[in-house]
Amino acid sequence: MNTALSRACRPAKPPLRGRNIDMKTKILGTTEHDIAEAAEIIKRGGLVAFPTETVYGLGADALDPEAVRSIYLAKGRPSDNPTIVHIAEPEDLKRLTPEVTADMETLAAEFWPGPMTMIVRRMPVVPDVTTGGLDTVGVRMPANDAARALIKAAGTPIAAPSANISGKPSPTNARDVLEDMDGRIDAVIDGGTCGVGIESTVIDMTEEMPMILRPGILTAEELGNALGKEVGIDPALLKKPGDQTGLVPKAPGQKYKHYAPNAEMILYKGRAADVAARIERDRAAFEAEGKRVAVISFDEGGEKQAAHDFFTLVRQADRDGADVILTAALREEGIGFSVMNRMLKSAGYNIVEV
Ligand code: TXA
Ligand code: MG
Repeated sequence: MNTALSRACRPAKPPLRGRNIDMKTKILGTTEHDIAEAAEIIKRGGLVAFPTETVYGLGADALDPEAVRSIYLAKGRPSDNPTIVHIAEPEDLKRLTPEVTADMETLAAEFWPGPMTMIVRRMPVVPDVTTGGLDTVGVRMPANDAARALIKAAGTPIAAPSANISGKPSPTNARDVLEDMDGRIDAVIDGGTCGVGIESTVIDMTEEMPMILRPGILTAEELGNALGKEVGIDPALLKKPGDQTGLVPKAPGQKYKHYAPNAEMILYKGRAADVAARIERDRAAFEAEGKRVAVISFDEGGEKQAAHDFFTLVRQADRDGADVILTAALREEGIGFSVMNRMLKSAGYNIVEV
């Protein structure tokens, strides 16, 4: 690992290269002129937040170590947590990895542009800081016109983690981005609300059996069907709170405290009717103590909607000054499993079994 970087990533350290936290953050639209302006910022080594179909990304030139370093500084992100490199065309994958396998080609053809990140071996052109020192790199072609136009105009792949302060819920609109990043980045492209609402499915393509390292809207089953073979799930993702198995997730980002609102969050698990009744009782009890309560619950079968709304609602609860957020758990199947991956972290595994 790059020790200079890990030192620089301690939150109290002053920023590098004169980057400060009271810079003016420009709000851009998606016109050709605005995209060109954003691309110039990227080319100069600056930071631009941009919309994707999943969540907003915080972009810098993926091949410029100094530029990527400033992403970590702006987010307060641990330096061993690699970024995803965004490309504009499937062919750009060849510039980043020494071998594009038949499986990689199949997934790219089926799911790109779209909410899927492939972990592949990296070429030397990809700097250490972009991959958190790993010899692999995550690559994704986003399904958002402004995002792809930006990558094309910048003429370089763009490294972009989600555009939130590290540990906070991911941003699904430009307002959420500004809440965390105003004054810390050069610009944000306001492209409206993200359609998917949770981050991309991360699939590791470097082993014999492809494996999901972060669940998303595209499930292991869908990816497996396209490949005609089984796709595994990183066993660390299936660990229950309190398990002593010692499994460590392969995606470094999965091991950190994450997606946490300011409010305390409680996740209720059980039969839908029982959960709803219990949430109402607890709501009344908290309110009787003078606490502000937000309730988040989704209809059964509404997992896609839950993915779309969850981060937005959590951020809204904070904005409304909620002290406590009461949330009904989803069934951990298909997209429900992916949303629950976020809900559990947001709640800090604070679970009430009803
Ligand atoms: O939808 C998304 O993926 C969004 C948008 C902006 O594209 N990006 C995003 O980036 O969620 P980020 O940095 O918040 O999450 C990236 C995840 C982390 O869990 C990270 O550890 C994992 O992907 N990751 C990236 N490169 C990796 C690698 N080479 N090996 C294992 N995990 C990797
Ligand atoms: Mg993130």
